[in-house]
Amino acid sequence: MAKIAVLGAGYVGLTTAACLASMGHDVVCGDSNKEKIAQLSRCSVSIFEDGLQELVSSGFRNKNLAFVGSVVDAVRSSEFIFLCLPTPESSDGSADTSIIESVAKEISPYLSPRSVIVNKSTLPVGSVGIVQDCIQRRDVHVVSNPEFLREGSAINDFLHPDRIVIGSDNTYAAQRVAQIYAPLGVKILITDATSAETIKYAANAFLAARLSFVNALASVCEAVGAKLSDVMEGVSSDSRIGTHFMQPGPGWGGSCFPKDTKALLKIAQDSGYDFELLAGVISSNERQFDHIAGRIIAEAKSVSDRPTVAIWGLTFKAGTDDLRESPSLKIISRLTKSGLSIQTYDPTQVDVKSRNQQTTNFETALAACKDAHLLAVLTEWSEFSEIDPNLVAAQMRSLFVFDGRNVLNKQLWNNAGFTYKGIGER
Ligand code: UGA
Repeated sequence: MAKIAVLGAGYVGLTTAACLASMGHDVVCGDSNKEKIAQLSRCSVSIFEDGLQELVSSGFRNKNLAFVGSVVDAVRSSEFIFLCLPTPESSDGSADTSIIESVAKEISPYLSPRSVIVNKSTLPVGSVGIVQDCIQRRDVHVVSNPEFLREGSAINDFLHPDRIVIGSDNTYAAQRVAQIYAPLGVKILITDATSAETIKYAANAFLAARLSFVNALASVCEAVGAKLSDVMEGVSSDSRIGTHFMQPGPGWGGSCFPKDTKALLKIAQDSGYDFELLAGVISSNERQFDHIAGRIIAEAKSVSDRPTVAIWGLTFKAGTDDLRESPSLKIISRLTKSGLSIQTYDPTQVDVKSRNQQTTNFETALAACKDAHLLAVLTEWSEFSEIDPNLVAAQMRSLFVFDGRNVLNKQLWNNAGFTYKGIGER
């Protein structure tokens, strides 16, 4: 089993560290945020991720997972160093690699001979070379090994991946990294560094394009009067297309798709290719926020001059407390600009006030509906489809529900007296 340092204790770093430890590797996770490390050293995980606390606890019990407040201390005797550090979006849309570069320079003198650096964070094409230049060591190789972890199912995605991608111009280093994952018994694709880095952006951009296509198709169905659910069933029954990642919604968000689509657009542009199709995918997602907000505003204003709208779901998807680039928040800000009063509920009780949203938050789904003229569902939490619509009806001033994730049972809501409208439905 390998001795591994994971640098960065965020979503990706902590999941990577806990999963590698669960596979039997000896893992130390380093982060310069002393407060975060102090908490993790008490075996307390503050990140909302299904199963993560349990996995960290079992790493503690098995004594093969430790946390240190210094990246230098983490790397001293490690054979592999996984970089799981933030790459925020720069003003021009590209990924900012300054944190990775400064950490690579900092750890360089302390790296063991023949150790391998593994770029796990999503990094621009060419980053393996950039990190190699930063460390200035001939005996240490750098490998790209992009993550494909969805928030909410990150542990399952790590331990049961569809594939593992390893990219390096040094085959021996790539094969050593492949050995780490051998116990998983899954497909491992070894390629050159540039191709591995491109695969990560291509996968996220392709998935985003698929969703934008579905959402645009929903608008076509609304326009021509076709039934979206039947159209999707007919389309996805073609095995070349399939059923995954086809759920219509208020637009895609999160910490990855918006950032990575823009970064790939910039990478292509800088290399002389005008990726017009991807630009269309990004702008079509913005239009989806406008479209959904427009539908809610039109319906609400048809009932009252000063409508109150109840919103169920604030996070960018179910299974996370993450509000980054949340479609729900983008829609809410359009609604408040149009003068609508907003009452919100989210199962995670996330605080949106800190995001300058003019809303009133409630502790239960029913309480958020009190005296509202319209209810809009913007995140697909399973709790919402389990609520009795008759109880909701008793709270509201007028009975209109807009299902922005197509998760409610239309028949039940109609039976409770609601006018129900979903995505892809006039
Ligand atoms: C995404 C990718 O799915 C991961 O493979 C990748 O590793 C990760 O980004 C990353 O780059 O780190 P994540 O951002 O956690 O994962 O979320 P997704 O589950 O992909 O959802 C993204 C957005 O698409 C959400 O707003 C979600 O609600 C929306 N979505 C997803 C739909 O509207 N419909 C669907 O059918 C699926």
